[in-house]
This record gives sequence, structure tokens and C-alpha cells, in this order.
Amino acid sequence: MKKIPVKPFWWRNKIYIIDQRLLPKKEVILKLESAKDVYNAIKEMKIRGAPLIGCIAAYGVVVSFLENKKFSNERLKDKINQDINFLRTSRPTAYNLFYALKRMEKIVSDWDKKNKEKLFKKLLKEAESIYKEDLSACYKIGIYGNKLIKNNMSILTHCNAGGLATTGFGTALAPIYIAKQKGKNIHVYVDETRPVLQGARLTAWELEKNRIPYTIISDNMAGYLMSKKKIDIVIVGADRIAKNGDTANKIGTYSLAVLASFHKIPFYVAAPISTFDFNIENGAEIPIEERNEDEIKKINGEYICPKDARVFNPAFDVTPNYLITGFITEKGILKHNEIKNLGG
Ligand code: MRU
Repeated sequence: MKKIPVKPFWWRNKIYIIDQRLLPKKEVILKLESAKDVYNAIKEMKIRGAPLIGCIAAYGVVVSFLENKKFSNERLKDKINQDINFLRTSRPTAYNLFYALKRMEKIVSDWDKKNKEKLFKKLLKEAESIYKEDLSACYKIGIYGNKLIKNNMSILTHCNAGGLATTGFGTALAPIYIAKQKGKNIHVYVDETRPVLQGARLTAWELEKNRIPYTIISDNMAGYLMSKKKIDIVIVGADRIAKNGDTANKIGTYSLAVLASFHKIPFYVAAPISTFDFNIENGAEIPIEERNEDEIKKINGEYICPKDARVFNPAFDVTPNYLITGFITEKGILKHNEIKNLGG
């Protein structure tokens, strides 16, 4: 595997993360030493992006073990299970959170309550597997997705579905990283992504670090660029994909898909299988997070609108399957009607 573009966290008996709220101004490292720390880091978006949320939550269960190992075996098991349920409530939309916690919960439920050290080793091994599997899946997404990127193409992406949102390679950005490694001349248009500005702050930071040419646009400019034939392909990430291919991703993704369809531009969703929720038939069943109104009302702590203005702040929207040209996964590039075959 080639060089990993970004390292958003690491494990040294504690979880260390880059505080993504402060990028690109400051690169501050935070330590997460309790399940409460992990819950807050996810809820307050110190870390974000579906695959990274899942991975950090998995290590959060290891942290819960370390916090609670002083208790009796019976109590330890209860405490970890309570923390797993608590972590599940940190954010509702990204499926990777539920996927990873289910795997960790299975390790706890299979434990015979005899040997604490054995439980610790198994929890750590499972969290490491979730980490390594994501790294490998995202790299393969890059290899498959690269086939869609021709020399001199302009790619539009939304939010941050890069290394910072995963274990290092990204999903939507992985094909871009591989295309660059293969020496292709490419240009990335980055939607700034209001209200939290993951595009302008995080995607631009990553692309800059990896010397990939990019241009930031505000979210209302994509249609104009498409009409001027400046965009060859759109690639976005996903927070949760239903069995029929309906996809929840950062608010604004649906508008881009509609625009891309009108302008006959291919629109791809890049995601590992851990983002696919095989328990739900379609996008209507995906819970959509609504976040604090101040994300919209304030910029740099200052009101940009009347203080008492009413706002609506859904963090995600759902793009229907028929607007999605294909899904770039670690198993190849799939059409929406091929997804159900992956379900197992
Ligand atoms: O609210 P965020 O920043 O967690 O939203 C992130 C996204 O919508 C990403 O596109 C998605 O999680 C895919 S990340 C590889």
C-alpha cells in the first residue's frame, strides 16, 4: 500500500485525535481517555466522517475497558455495555458507528467473564481490525475509482470525504489520491459546504498537504460551473446507504446530484461496505441529524442574522438511487441494483 495521505488519529493506550474543529488554523492533538471523551469528540465533531466515527467509537470501547477494569468482572461487562449504548447516541446518521459498535458488543457478549486480560486483548484486536479493514477498503476504493478519472479531468466533491473522515485514505478523495500518484493531471473543485465548512476547511487542507490542485467554490456555484462544462465528474462520500442505494450524505449532496443529472455529468458515491445498512430498504428509513441552530446563525462566534431568526439545520440529505451513476466500493464499482447482493 502506498503512503497514507492523512493520519487523523492514533492509539497509544489512549486515543489521540487531531481536533478537526480547529483546522486549518491550528493542528491541535487531543487525548481521549474515557467513553465520555469519545462521546463528546463525536458529538461535537472534533472528529467526524462516517468511517472515522466508527473507528474511534470502536477504540472508545477499549477505553471503556481501561476505565472500568477496576470493577468485578460482572460489573465490568455491564459498564462496557452501558458505554456502548451511550456511544450509540452520539450521532444518528453515520452507519459506521452502529456497524463498529455492534462488532465490539459481540466481543463483550462472547466473553465468559473469567479473564479480564483476555477481554482486553480481544477488544483491542477487534478495534485494530476495524481500523485496518477501513484503511484497506478505502485504498481499494481509490484503485477502482481511479479508473473513472482520466487525464485533465475536473472533479467536484462535497464536504470532506478524505483521509480526515476515514482512517487516512478517504472515500471520495481516495480515487483522487491514486490518480495523482499515477501522475494524472487533475483539478478538484471543492464545495465549501455550509454550515460547518468541511470542504473549505478540511478538504482544502488535505489537498494542499498532498499537493493536489484545487479551487474552492461556495455551495451555490456548482450549477454555474456545470453549465460552463467545468465539471467532468462528481464524487461524494456517504454516511449511510440503504439496500436500494438511496444515500444519506452531507446536506447539499442531493442538490448536486440533481444538478449533475440535469447536466448529464456522472455522479458517484464512494463508500466502504461498512457504510451500507442492509437492515433498511430505502432512504426514508435513514435518521437525519438536526444540529444546533448556531452553526447557521453564527460565523466565528458572531451572529450573521437577527439573533431570534428561526433556522433549520439538517446535517444530511438523502439522494435517491436513480440519481447515482454508481457506487465506488472495495468490491468494485456497483449499480444500485447490485447492492443487495453484498448484504450476505
Ligand atoms: O457531519 P460530518 O462532517 O460528519 O459529515 C461527513 C460527511 O457527510 C461525509 O461525506 C461522509 O461521512 C463520508 S466520509 C468518508
